[in-house]
Amino acid sequence: MNALKESMQAFDINSIRKDFPILNETVHGKTLVYLDNAATTQKPEQVIEAMNAYYRHTNSNIHRGVHLLSEKATQQYEEARKKVARFIGAPKTQEIIFTRGTTDAINLLAASFGKKHIQAGDEILISAMEHHSNIVPWQMMCEERKAVLKVVPIDDDGSLNMEAFEQLLSEKTKLVAIVHVSNSLGTINPVKDIIQKAHAKNIPVLLDGAQAVQHLPVNVQELDCDFYAFSGHKLFGPTGVGVLYGKESWLKDLPPYQGGGDMILNVTFEKTTYNELPYKFEAGTPAIAEVIGLGAAIDYISGIGMKQIETRESELLAYAMKRIAAIPRVTIIGTAAHKSSVVSFVVDGVHPHDMGTILDREGIAIRTGHHCTQPVMKRFGIPATSRVSLAFYNTEEELDTCVKAIEKAIQLFV
Ligand code: ALA
Repeated sequence: MNALKESMQAFDINSIRKDFPILNETVHGKTLVYLDNAATTQKPEQVIEAMNAYYRHTNSNIHRGVHLLSEKATQQYEEARKKVARFIGAPKTQEIIFTRGTTDAINLLAASFGKKHIQAGDEILISAMEHHSNIVPWQMMCEERKAVLKVVPIDDDGSLNMEAFEQLLSEKTKLVAIVHVSNSLGTINPVKDIIQKAHAKNIPVLLDGAQAVQHLPVNVQELDCDFYAFSGHKLFGPTGVGVLYGKESWLKDLPPYQGGGDMILNVTFEKTTYNELPYKFEAGTPAIAEVIGLGAAIDYISGIGMKQIETRESELLAYAMKRIAAIPRVTIIGTAAHKSSVVSFVVDGVHPHDMGTILDREGIAIRTGHHCTQPVMKRFGIPATSRVSLAFYNTEEELDTCVKAIEKAIQLFV
């Protein structure tokens, strides 16, 4: 069988949907239509089972015991780290730091990088489409170090203004922190170009991949990014776990973020020495079951294939954009040529909150509000949007149901 045929067989939507038990739930008496995947994704049986099995058979603390359970737990935890490294193409396993999520990963980097490398007057460059989690940690650090936060503007279609980006890169820029895929607009940023331009001036780059790793194949070596952050729960894994990838040279150079057990080599009251990578950045008992769950999620989606997922989702996105844009009174916010998985929209005469409530009564879950991107709302002069966000297990039929419900809401209010 040739590779294409094999890959098409791997994408069998009926059997995929059977893997996600929650998709059979009813909400207000209707079959759930889950279109809030940018907020969190659903979990396949394989992830639920991996965590269940860990608690039933292996639960124990890691890196600490000589007993069998502790050894097994340690082995499963470290195996998950290898899976993450392979999944994002990290050259070395010790470049994978487990965190509580993307937010925690960015806070780690901002605190650690700030302490070591930021002086008064230095600049951090972010964009106007960042999630609050890639704004506030930098803002807090800049305030503390008397540094300056600079912001790349976005164009009317929701793309990054690359001319402005180049102009804002300066001698003073110490780090660029940019979202890979926008959670409120869906824009896929030209991250390779961004990284090349920043590196030409010896500036390191962090990519916030919270909305990217579940939709596109990501290879940190190909991108050549210095840091990459993402969350487990948006990648069909559990909440409470995330990843900070960093190039080894950077991670060796940066000071620890939090102090505690596991991140030390030797402690005395006079002086403490720190553990090697990656443990230097993992203080305290980590989210062991969640890390194992994340490993199972990576196995699951790797079994389908990120390329297949990307192809399928671009069909779904094109369908969703076409159907939603055709509804009278609807304006789509975020129409960049390179988009992924998100359709944000406003309806003349219907508040997003009312839209979300009506859709909920029809069993349809979407997110309404500012999506933790208040500056994006300000940029477009709106208080909020309604957001349909997709995953590979969604279908055109679900989108049809959603469109009907949007039309019903409009009839009710207008
Ligand atoms: N960042 C998540 C979202 O976009 C919570 O909904």
